[in-house]
Order: sequence, then C-alpha cells, then structure tokens
Amino acid sequence: MSANRQDPYNATVIGREELNPQLLVMRVRPDGELFDFRPGQFGVLGLLGNAPRIVEAAAEDAPAEPDKMIRRAYSIASSNLERRYVEFYLTLITSGALTPRLFALNHGSRVFLGPKASGVFTLDKVAPEKSVILVATGTGLAPYVSMLRTMLVNDSRRRFVVLHGARYSWDLGYRGELESLARLRPNFTYIPSITRPDQDPHFIGYTGRIQTLLEQGVLERESGVVLNPAQAEVFLCGNPDMVKLAVSLLEAKGFAGKGGAVPATIHVEEYW
Ligand SMILES: Cc1cc2nc3c(=O)[nH]c(=O)nc-3n(C[C@H](O)[C@H](O)[C@H](O)COP(=O)(O)OP(=O)(O)OC[C@H]3O[C@@H](n4cnc5c(N)ncnc54)[C@H](O)[C@@H]3O)c2cc1C
Ligand SMILES: NC(=O)c1ccc[n+]([C@@H]2O[C@H](COP(=O)([O-])OP(=O)(O)OC[C@H]3O[C@@H](n4cnc5c(N)ncnc54)[C@H](OP(=O)(O)O)[C@@H]3O)[C@@H](O)[C@H]2O)c1
Repeated sequence: MSANRQDPYNATVIGREELNPQLLVMRVRPDGELFDFRPGQFGVLGLLGNAPRIVEAAAEDAPAEPDKMIRRAYSIASSNLERRYVEFYLTLITSGALTPRLFALNHGSRVFLGPKASGVFTLDKVAPEKSVILVATGTGLAPYVSMLRTMLVNDSRRRFVVLHGARYSWDLGYRGELESLARLRPNFTYIPSITRPDQDPHFIGYTGRIQTLLEQGVLERESGVVLNPAQAEVFLCGNPDMVKLAVSLLEAKGFAGKGGAVPATIHVEEYW
C-alpha cells in the first residue's frame, strides 16, 4: 500500500522502547519492500498535523495544519541486513512539530516512511586499512549503530572507535550493546562520556564534553588509534556546535573537511 488520500501512511510501528521519557528507539515496518540503504544514511518519518501529541509536550510555536504531513530526517540505526524494519533513535523536542507526535505512537500505530534513504555520511570512501573514529552527541549515535551492526560483524581488521557524549548516563542509548560489542571485538573501542555528572554522581567513566576528551588524548589512550589523517578518518554527528568545535580541533591536527584541495578525512552530519 502506498501513501494516498485514504491512507496517508505506508508503514507500521512494530517496536517501541522508551529508554527514558525523552529518548525512544522505534522500529518501523514498511507495507511494501524496504528500500536499500547504506549504513550512515537517513530516512524520513512523517505524521499529519492532526496526529495527537504527548500530553507532556509544550505548546507549538504555530499550530500544525491538520492535513499537512510533517516530515523530518532520521538516521537509520538498524543494519541494512535487516530487511523487515528500520530502526530509529529519537530524542523528544517538547516544543517540536514532529517528535511529540512520534512519541505518542504505540505498537501498531501507522506512520509515513519516506520511500528511500539518502545521505553521504557513510564509510564508502574510507580505505579499508584506515581506522574510523565515530564521534556523536545525543542521538547522533544512530548512524554509527547501523555501521557497527552491519560492518563490524564482517570486518575484524579495521579499527572502529565510538566516542559518545550525552548529558547523563541514562541518555547513553545502546550502551549495553556497545559495551558487549567492545568486549567481543578487539578492533572496537567504545568511549562514553557524560557532561552533567553533578546530577548523575554514580556514573563511573569519563565526564566532560567530547572536545575536552579529544584534547586530553583519551581517545588515543583508550583505543591506541592515533589522531593522524594518514591512519584514521573522523565522523562527527549530532549537535552542530560540537561539530564546529571538533572540526577546528581536528583541522589543527591535519585532518581536512569536504570541499578542500585534499580528500576529506572529516565527515559531518549536523542534525540542526
Ligand atoms: C540528516 C539528519 C538526520 C537526523 N537524524 C536524527 C536522529 O537519528 N534522531 C533524532 O532524534 N534527530 C535526528 N535529526 C533531527 C530531526 O530531523 C528533527 O530535527 C528533530 O527530530 C526535531 O524535530 P521536531 O519537528 O520535533 O522539532 P522542530 O520543531 O523541527 O525543532 C527543531 C529544533 O530541535 C532541536 N533538535 C533537533 N534535533 C535534535 C536532536 N537530535 N537532539 C537535540 N536537539 C535537537 C534543535 O534546537 C532544532 O532547532 C536528524 C536531522 C538530520 C538533518
Ligand atoms: N529546543 C531546543 O532548541 C533544544 C536544543 C537542544 C536540546 N533540547 C532538549 O534537550 C533534550 C535532549 O537533547 P540532547 O541532550 O540529546 O542534545 P544536546 O543538548 O545536543 O546534548 C547532547 C550532548 O551534547 C553536549 N553538547 C552540547 N553542546 C556541545 C558543544 N558545543 N560541544 C560539545 N558537546 C556539546 C551536551 O553537553 P552539555 O550537557 O554540556 O550541554 C550533551 O552531553 C531534548 O529533550 C530537547 O528537548 C532542546
């Protein structure tokens, strides 16, 4: 079934795990065949303006038009080997147009799923012998989960490092899965860090923002991967201010962004 006047939706929510009231892992199954995608790409989710919002939502800046589809991009977190559904990792923006509606969906709810995946935030152009350093804040972790679920299973040579910053330990989605992967795979290192330890005093691990960890050499110490563009490429995803600060720090170490004279060794996905 495709989106039409009778049914504007073409997919069903088949999985819904609330990690906390602001974070949701959602699985969506298309009515037809799932599109092909490469790990790191994003899909589109949509709901009509007349879809209910969660009661905790703040007032909208402007009331939504009831019959208009509100669409937003979301990185795919599932493996592309999984053909039954796509998984998304979502944070609630209480004043937002779409997320308070997505958070109101239940198992079995209908939703719009865009017909294809897009984006170039993938490992396609990274030489197989190079390490990949995957840096995220918040739900910016999602594309890396897809990369690891798809590629780490078959690649025991390339080194993968995830550096994930979140406010609190309960915002470190996929932590259990990534800790298990790191125990099982010697070529994978997982480094979580929280930025508000005063309100999360029992957390054991790194604290501080990502750029501080990079400056302090935590990544190199934990993983053995050297921050050198001849040996590694860096992916940055999430908060645009984090991305800007990390880019300038990495450029000082010889890494290059897109559009310069040399091939990019920094790859960026900004969420807003
Ligand atoms: C390529 C791409 C991939 C994306 N993938 C994801 C994803 O996997 N998971 C996800 O939760 N969001 C993702 N986003 C953001 C998403 O598209 C929406 O912007 C977000 O869900 C807010 O939608 P909204 O309608 O509720 O809020 P809007 O009314 O559109 O409000 C947007 C505001 O919310 C804030 N914001 C947006 N996204 C985030 C975020 N992830 N974390 C913290 N603050 C945020 C910013 O201040 C932004 O200006 C992605 C965006 C892009 C461009
Ligand atoms: N409406 C908005 O404009 C807006 C914007 C952002 C978040 N929010 C709300 O916040 C909730 C969760 O958001 P989130 O925590 O996933 O996203 P976030 O605010 O981007 O925070 C995620 C992590 O990124 C860190 N961070 C923020 N700015 C950074 C920078 N310049 N450099 C490096 N790290 C940086 C944060 O550290 P710190 O703890 O030091 O900030 C935190 O550890 C959502 O529920 C949303 O409603 C709303």
